[in-house]
Amino acid sequence: MRAADIASDITEVLVTEEQIQAKLDEIAAQVAEDYRDQDLLLVGVLKGAIMVMADFSRALPTVVPMDWMAVSSYGAGTRSSGVVQIRKDLDADLTGRHVLIVEDIIDSGLTLSWLLENFASRGAASVEVFALLRKPDAAKVEVRCRYIGFDIPNEFVIGYGLDYAEKYRNLRDVAILAPHVYA
Ligand code: PRP
Repeated sequence: MRAADIASDITEVLVTEEQIQAKLDEIAAQVAEDYRDQDLLLVGVLKGAIMVMADFSRALPTVVPMDWMAVSSYGAGTRSSGVVQIRKDLDADLTGRHVLIVEDIIDSGLTLSWLLENFASRGAASVEVFALLRKPDAAKVEVRCRYIGFDIPNEFVIGYGLDYAEKYRNLRDVAILAPHVYA
């Protein structure tokens, strides 16, 4: 669905499907160039990264394996506690691999910061990050991120994999959720 299909649930479209696809083409060309002499492993972080992984991997002009990890933050207080639980681990052995983590969004940065450390401890040759969206004003820790799609304001955003209560992931655009939906 497009933003126009759920106009009353959103206040603003931040990034359109067309802008996303153009950015993915641009970053895929850059990644193909940067890794031209290296075998790359894409790792998607479920569930939010499913859309960006699907489109980004197909924008790459090379054969590239994909793996998936599901994690969740837990602990007292907010979900972004920085304590991460693995719900589904990778199938691949990372030893000696060049890994590119594919994420939909960097919010506080806590999830990725934990993942970067975890992957490094598994003996990966290199670990880099591609995040489609980043909220600079929400950062609690700085995350080393090689490829960024769009910096966005610190608002509740949905679409293109991002959900509110498991809804709106299938929105093609990225939009700000109207407060009346979650208030
Ligand atoms: C989102 C997103 C990142 C994480 C970013 O996942 O996909 O993995 O939050 O937040 P952080 O920078 O504050 O750590 P979420 O936990 O909502 O799960 P989901 O992908 O299954 O929706």
